[in-house]
Amino acid sequence: MTSQIIKVDEFDYVIFGGAGDLAERKLLPALYHRDIDGQIRETSRIIGVSRTERSDEDYRKFALEAIERHVPADCLKPEDIERFLARLHYRSVDARGEKGWQDLKDLLESAGSAPRIRVFYLAVGPEIFGTIGAQLTERGLKNDLARLVIEKPIGNDLQSAQLLNATIAEHFAEEQVFRIDHYLGKETVQNLMALRFANTIYEPVWNSNFIDHVQITVAESVGLENRAGYYDTSGAMRDMVQNHLLQLLALIAIEPPSSFTADAIHNEKLKVLRALSPIGKANVDQKTVRGQYREGAVDGQAVGGYETDLGSDTSQTETFVALKAEINTWRWAGVPFYLRTGKRLPRRASEIVVTFRPIPYSIFSDDTGEIMQNRLVLRLQPGEGLKQLVMIKRPGPGGMKLRPVALDMTFAETFKIRHPDAYERLLMDVIRGDQALFMRRDEVEAAWDWVDPIMNAWRDAEQQPAGYASGSWGPTAAAALIERDGRNWHEPE
Ligand code: BG6
Repeated sequence: MTSQIIKVDEFDYVIFGGAGDLAERKLLPALYHRDIDGQIRETSRIIGVSRTERSDEDYRKFALEAIERHVPADCLKPEDIERFLARLHYRSVDARGEKGWQDLKDLLESAGSAPRIRVFYLAVGPEIFGTIGAQLTERGLKNDLARLVIEKPIGNDLQSAQLLNATIAEHFAEEQVFRIDHYLGKETVQNLMALRFANTIYEPVWNSNFIDHVQITVAESVGLENRAGYYDTSGAMRDMVQNHLLQLLALIAIEPPSSFTADAIHNEKLKVLRALSPIGKANVDQKTVRGQYREGAVDGQAVGGYETDLGSDTSQTETFVALKAEINTWRWAGVPFYLRTGKRLPRRASEIVVTFRPIPYSIFSDDTGEIMQNRLVLRLQPGEGLKQLVMIKRPGPGGMKLRPVALDMTFAETFKIRHPDAYERLLMDVIRGDQALFMRRDEVEAAWDWVDPIMNAWRDAEQQPAGYASGSWGPTAAAALIERDGRNWHEPE
């Protein structure tokens, strides 16, 4: 059975930062794809907003370039492009001042009196979230069907996150707020839920009786790119671990929710995040490693180090983190979750590896070969899919010789369909009002609550992050972190 496209209700998608990097790379291409798939009603509109003066026509040119750059050529039919561009409008608005708000209001009201969903997507710095929220309220731009979408950074520690969430709550109810973590929109991440809760075979073994440990790797080959201003004040812990990696960990570890509804899922994720064993001054050295890339080579190309990319030689910002997390619950006691993420690693590869316990006793003689522990590999990217490693008899004559083999399901080969970018699903979920794949306020705060003491311990120790050559798998201490427990990192393919 193939999935069916169900049209979403009429909407106006207002993108603050409408001509910025996120809109260009992700939001406009994602909306275009949903449009050509027939999910968007004829009358729905997309309104780009920023301070710069631009006409609707200029904005359509910007959007055209964006989709030409980021949408595969075989999806670019002239009639589709024309229909999509006709949906676009642009208004120049001064977020902090008077200018442009009435214009934007007039445009929204020109849709008529029938109720229509209004989405305000804040693809701008968090320092003006509150200001925009207040303007939307005071100037009467919110209607009964309004929703607010925000992205990280949602604070840079617990206190600032609480403040930001409180500011947002002054203007929008929690059911109207959609906090994006785009990892939750990735196909394999949703499949994690399907795997666990739509099959009977995994749930009975999904606990410390059968699982030895879990690894989560999110490796990137890119370096700083053009984001020095943001990244150097953030680092890998805030940029990746606090959100994407902890969200993945939470989904692997949750108890079965009572239904596939947003609150039921959020409640279970929250319990996991709150059960994380604290890491702080006393154990930060044993449980965490932070690194910073130096010069090296990635994909055969020589690349400079982080400080060269940054143009400063005093940065203590980490571009790599490895850590050993533990969850204090009956299900997970004694099962380490090893997390690692970094920039300038050998390749872009993200995966979750669940390693099962060794067999209790071998009936085979030594010359049958090593019996490897069963592993379930969930590949997030590239080539999304699942792989279950099992031991089999080596085929053919030669007696009982054992070898591991992968039961491999690469989604692109199994389902011959295009795999949508995470944003496509998430942007439509906002219209549907489905918060299941977004982060609730208390989850974000619980994640900071666990991360803050680690960051504080690093800061107090005044230790430089360990250097690692670009193109390597991080500092040697990261290998030592897991080898101390008699285990190894699984190298992504
Ligand atoms: C973003 C981070 O959230 O995720 C970036 O800010 C990172 O630093 C990106 O590069 C990775 O996303 P993806 O989908 O390419 O794995």
